[in-house]
Amino acid sequence: MSHTIKTILAVDDEPNMLRLLEISLRQAGYKPLTARDGREALEIIRSQHVDCVVTDLHMPYMSGLQLLKAIRGEALDEAQHKSSKAQSNPDLPVIIVTAQGEVKTAIDAMKNGASDYILRPFDLEELELAISRALSFARLVVENQFLREEKTSDIGIVGNSPPMQQLFDAIRQVAPEKATVLIAGETGTGKELVARAIHAGSPRKEGLFVAVNCAAIPHEMLESELFGHEKGAFTGAIKERVGKFELADGGTLFLDEITEMPMQLQAKLLRALQENVIERVGGNRQIDVDIRVVAATNRDPKQAIADGKLREDLYYRLNVFRLDLPPLRMRKSDIASLAQHFLAQRRAAISVDAIQALTGYDWPGNVRELENVLERAAIISGNQTILPKHLPAEMVNHVTLAASDSGVATNTLALPPALEALERRLISEALAITQGNKSKAAKLLEISERSLWYKISQYEIH
Ligand SMILES: Nc1ncnc2c1ncn2[C@@H]1O[C@H](COP(=O)(O)OP(=O)(O)OP(=O)(O)O)[C@@H](O)[C@H]1O
Ligand SMILES: [Mg+2]
Repeated sequence: MSHTIKTILAVDDEPNMLRLLEISLRQAGYKPLTARDGREALEIIRSQHVDCVVTDLHMPYMSGLQLLKAIRGEALDEAQHKSSKAQSNPDLPVIIVTAQGEVKTAIDAMKNGASDYILRPFDLEELELAISRALSFARLVVENQFLREEKTSDIGIVGNSPPMQQLFDAIRQVAPEKATVLIAGETGTGKELVARAIHAGSPRKEGLFVAVNCAAIPHEMLESELFGHEKGAFTGAIKERVGKFELADGGTLFLDEITEMPMQLQAKLLRALQENVIERVGGNRQIDVDIRVVAATNRDPKQAIADGKLREDLYYRLNVFRLDLPPLRMRKSDIASLAQHFLAQRRAAISVDAIQALTGYDWPGNVRELENVLERAAIISGNQTILPKHLPAEMVNHVTLAASDSGVATNTLALPPALEALERRLISEALAITQGNKSKAAKLLEISERSLWYKISQYEIH
C-alpha cells in the first residue's frame, strides 16, 4: 500500500458544515474535495480519483442514502464496461454523518453498503478514526475480490477430502435454520469462512453479517460493543451507541473466540439469546432483536468449561448444532487444491516437488499458514513457478535431507533476504494503518501479538 495522501470527498448542503469538514480533513492530512449535494458528488467521483466519501444524510435533490446507492449501482455498471480505474469503485468507502436521533437511518445505510457512520457533533479524532478504518477495510476488500469471484463450490470453501465433504453437507443442512451454531477448530482452519457461508446460505442473507472478536476487544468495552449504550451511561459515553446485537438484527451475529468473553457477560448474552430482547448499557428500554448467533472457539469447549472460561448453560445454548473443523494435517489431500486456489489469484504456478514439500509439513497454523506461505513464495519467485527453494526452510528441510545423498545442494535453506524485507514492510504498514496499536496490527497481519512483538524487536522496527 502506498503512503500517498488520500483524497476524501465531503458532501454537505450546509455551507458552514462543509467548510468545517474541509478544514478538519486538511488538518488530518487528507486532500479534501467538497460537494454541496449528491449530484455534484457523483460528478466529482466520475471525473477524478476519490479514496473515501463522507456524506450528510439530508440534502436537497439527493439524500445521502440515495448517493450511496448511486455510487454502488454506478460502480457495478462501470466495472462491467471499463477497466482499471473503475474496479476500485464498488468498494469506495462511504461514511455517513448523521444526527443523534437518526441511528435507524444510519443502520439502513450500513445495510446498503456504507462503511461506517458517525454521529454529530463529532470531533476530529472520531472522523479520522472512521476514515482510517474505512480505508484499511477497503484495501482488504480489494484484495479479497479474486477470492470471492473464483470460488466454485456453492458454499465457497475449497476442499475435496471426506471430512470437508461432510462439513459441507452439515453446512447445507443447518444454514437455512435459525439454530445457533458452535464452530470449533484450531486457528486458521476456516471458522470465520464457515460462519460466513452459513449466513450466505440462510434466509437472513439480506441482513448484516456482524463479526465480534471477543478476544480483540478490551473486557470493559465488550458489553457496550455488544449491547450498545445510552448517552451518559458511563464516563465517556457522550452519545448513544448502537451495539452489534441491534446492528445484526435480521442478520447473523458471529461471536468469535467466545471463551474470551467475561463470565458475567456470558450470563447476559445467554439471557439475550433466550428472550430475544436486549437492554443497552445504562438503559432500561427493552429492545426486541431477531438474531441468529454463530459462535466460534479454537479451544476445546468442554475443557473451556472445566477451566472456568465458558459457562456450561451458555455452552448448551450455543451447542444446538456443532461443527468441528478438521485441522489441515488431518486432510492433507486438500493441500494441492487449496494451493491451486490461492495461486490462481496471482496467476502463479507450483512445481510437483514443492507440493510434496507442502504435504510433508504439519501446518500448525492450518489453512491460514498455507495461504501466507504461498503468498510469500509467489512473491519471492516473481509470480512464476514456486519451487521448493521458495518455501520456508522447515518445509524443505526433510525434502533436501532426503535428497542430500544424491548430492543436491542444501544451501537453499537460508531465509531469502527478500522474505525478510517483505515481512518488515508488511509489519510497518500494519502499524501505520493501526496507528501503532500492536494488538490490532497483529490481527491485521493474522499473527499472534507475541510473535509481532518478537518480530518488531528482531527487525528493530520503531
Ligand atoms: N477451506 C478453505 N478454502 C479456502 N480458503 C480457506 C479455507 N479455510 C480457510 N481459508 C482461508 O484461510 C484463512 C483463515 O481462515 P479463517 O479466518 O476462517 O480461520 P479461523 O478458523 O477463523 O482462524 P482463527 O481461529 O485464527 O480466527 C482465511 O483467509 C480463509 O479465507
Ligand atoms: Mg477467526
